[in-house]
Amino acid sequence: MIPMGFRISLILISGILLGCASSPYPHIDFKGWDRTETCCLASGKKMAVASGGTHASQAALEISQMGGTLADAAVAAAFTLAVERPQSLGLGGGGFFLYSQPGKKRNDVFVDFREVAPGVATAKMFRDSQDQVIPLQSRFGAKAVATPGFVPGMLLIHKKWGKLPWAKLLQPAIRLARQGFRVYPSLARRIDEEKKALLEDSYTKSLISINGELLKKGDWIRQLDLAQTLERIAENPQREMRSGITAQKIAAFMKTRGGLISQKDLLRYQAVIRKPLEFQWNGKTLLLAPPPSAGGVVVIEMLNMLARDALDRMEPSEYVHLLSESMRRAYADRSQAIGDPDFHKFSIEPLLSYSRAEKLRASITSGQATPSKAIRPISSEDLKENHTTQLSLMDEAGNAIAMTLSLNEFFGCRLAVPETGIFLNNQMDDFSSKPGEPNVFGLLGAEANSIAPFKRPVSSMTPTIILDRGRPVLAIGAAGGSKISTHVTQVFLNLFLRTPDDLRKAVFSPRFHHQWLPDQITLENGFSEKMIRTLKTMGHSLEISDRTALVQTVWRNPEGSFVAVFDPRDEGGAEAQ
Ligand code: DON
Repeated sequence: MIPMGFRISLILISGILLGCASSPYPHIDFKGWDRTETCCLASGKKMAVASGGTHASQAALEISQMGGTLADAAVAAAFTLAVERPQSLGLGGGGFFLYSQPGKKRNDVFVDFREVAPGVATAKMFRDSQDQVIPLQSRFGAKAVATPGFVPGMLLIHKKWGKLPWAKLLQPAIRLARQGFRVYPSLARRIDEEKKALLEDSYTKSLISINGELLKKGDWIRQLDLAQTLERIAENPQREMRSGITAQKIAAFMKTRGGLISQKDLLRYQAVIRKPLEFQWNGKTLLLAPPPSAGGVVVIEMLNMLARDALDRMEPSEYVHLLSESMRRAYADRSQAIGDPDFHKFSIEPLLSYSRAEKLRASITSGQATPSKAIRPISSEDLKENHTTQLSLMDEAGNAIAMTLSLNEFFGCRLAVPETGIFLNNQMDDFSSKPGEPNVFGLLGAEANSIAPFKRPVSSMTPTIILDRGRPVLAIGAAGGSKISTHVTQVFLNLFLRTPDDLRKAVFSPRFHHQWLPDQITLENGFSEKMIRTLKTMGHSLEISDRTALVQTVWRNPEGSFVAVFDPRDEGGAEAQ
């Protein structure tokens, strides 16, 4: 998740590549996960779900079999994910929900339950008296927390599109929190990686240890406080997170730790319904996340730039080069342009225009990297005139859902609220603390993404639905910070162009990423030595990293069956019926 500072020398990598040459997926450690290369897939005619949690996908199936709507299944899975992946998402976080419903006229909506800055937040809150950014303050501790939107988001989704009683949807999550589950490899790894910060607070420490020892792979984890919190939310959802016991505990904890969220902030929080971005590509309609996500804009800019290139027939290293160059340019624009649309009145039209795409495409040279310092992001003048976990589901009625949920970094701000089992996000780091200062993902921002009271920080989360002749054929999205949009794009390019009609291959194949700055392509393990050599010859700086994005997908194949594939790089679950 943290894409910084994890470099392995290329010499070592080529050794690994050669050593694993027999596997078509040498970048995935199947043994570590006790899985094989034929894993991670489920198919069926009625519905399918893929998520970053085994129990979560099972919960979606359970609710669907009880007669719940696809939205009911998504809400149940989201709450279960909050128990199963406490490091990645939960009641102390937020997310985005993209929903495409069938009907005479399709009704496509985007629910934004992203966290917002507390009411007393200020643009310079993470800077000292010399106007320097105070290191780590936007990432660790109570000040890093933005007002959570998870429960209000789930409530809105259930109110609009749910059928089963609310309390029923929380049962699988409550059951899992009470009964517990075995700590899986990546949960153990994240606990170990973050232990220094997590052990500083005694309550947080109690959640990640057993008998005074840090939880490790194979240990049994039960979350009894979280189970009680979930029971209160099942009983009185309207009140609990706004003014009830949980809200009071969050506000009291903030006060003692120098956090800014008050009970008023919790009371005031509202999830917002927005219109998804729509884009025609390759005979299909893409539904994408609008601002405050930058994801949809970045994907459209990239696809626009490459509209005339034969991506399906292109030689692999030229494909990586060309796509990386389009990423570089789209992320440069992202850094200047995108902000919370409720605050920063701007038009995304200039970014999405074909004329801009043509101009950017013309600046790409075949076989030759463009230095990032030569890239000029779109200017504010051009924009001015108007102003981590994925869940994917589809069903036979023609509904499709892509939902991305997050705490930002693993375990968010590394603090849990006493007696609630809730880990708090550190989404304040997604704001730009100061123009030109990178956040944890190395992303830069400008005035558009500065901190202001009740404002939403820009996100990379990119839940996406693809329609073919008006019917959903793909629900997709990812966790993975700044890499989300580029990895989502590669998986659907694979499925529709590069490895046609093989979803497992599309998800399993190695992926890459460029975000303008730092000026480098970040490659997963698994690219050939020849590819690495060729890219270097073109002038690209390369970083090899095992910090990647995790893509969860459901596809409706040409025979009309649903195929769900979860990303084998981490914990996950695919179910279908
Ligand atoms: O909204 C964003 O862009 C980030 N807060 C997402 C963080 C994330 O994906 C962490 N993933 N593993």
